Amino acid sequence: MINQVRYTILINIFGKFMSKKICKKIMNRNKPNDVIYTPKEVALLMIDKCNIKEKDKVLDPCLGGGVFYDNFPPCNKQWCEIEKGKDYFDFNDKVDLVIGNPPYSIWNKWLEHTIKITNKICFILGVMNLTPPRLQLLKDNGFGITYFHILKVDWWFSPSFIVIWEKDKNSVIDFTGDRFTCDICNSGKRCNRGRTVKGKKCGMNECINI
Ligand SMILES: C[S@@+](CC[C@H](N)C(=O)[O-])C[C@H]1O[C@@H](n2cnc3c(N)ncnc32)[C@H](O)[C@@H]1O
Repeated sequence: MINQVRYTILINIFGKFMSKKICKKIMNRNKPNDVIYTPKEVALLMIDKCNIKEKDKVLDPCLGGGVFYDNFPPCNKQWCEIEKGKDYFDFNDKVDLVIGNPPYSIWNKWLEHTIKITNKICFILGVMNLTPPRLQLLKDNGFGITYFHILKVDWWFSPSFIVIWEKDKNSVIDFTGDRFTCDICNSGKRCNRGRTVKGKKCGMNECINI
């Protein structure tokens, strides 16, 4: 909704001078916290786990300073980077592997595009970004998690996960996409348990719905 309003404002003010495509690009311009470079040691670890072969088509979808791309072993490599005029969402060729550290503000769109162009994905995500709906999206599209690594980069906000997803492979971890809901009211929906509603605090072990 907010994006739509921003887009409408941009089109109204600048539409006479700029194409719709450029207005859209400005609207989607990087947020400052989207440009966060990966330490070389972490990129090397991710690359190592992907077992890249010389004949493989490997895509770094968001080059940044090139810490992934520059360190790939010999292979058929390609890159995208919005700041250099190569938008990942315009890249539609099929590749054997997409590997990198995507921009945090567009994770959903990023994953939706990635599953269309590859059968193997290696991304690093903050713990808050690996949400059940995103895991579900990958699972629904036939991707299993074949590698999972937990780490903390000293100056990053939260711990991170390195995850490799491969199409038609069994997953090494399980998850439950739906929430576990209250087993006191058994409404199957979000209730007041553990929450403060209109100043009234409902404890973790009680449900005031009943
Ligand atoms: C978290 S940074 C990671 C940079 C680099 N891959 C690294 O790990 O050091 C995300 C990068 O994505 C780029 N980016 C954002 N949107 C993009 C898009 N639509 N297509 C390609 N690159 C994009 C940003 O400019 C930024 O360089």
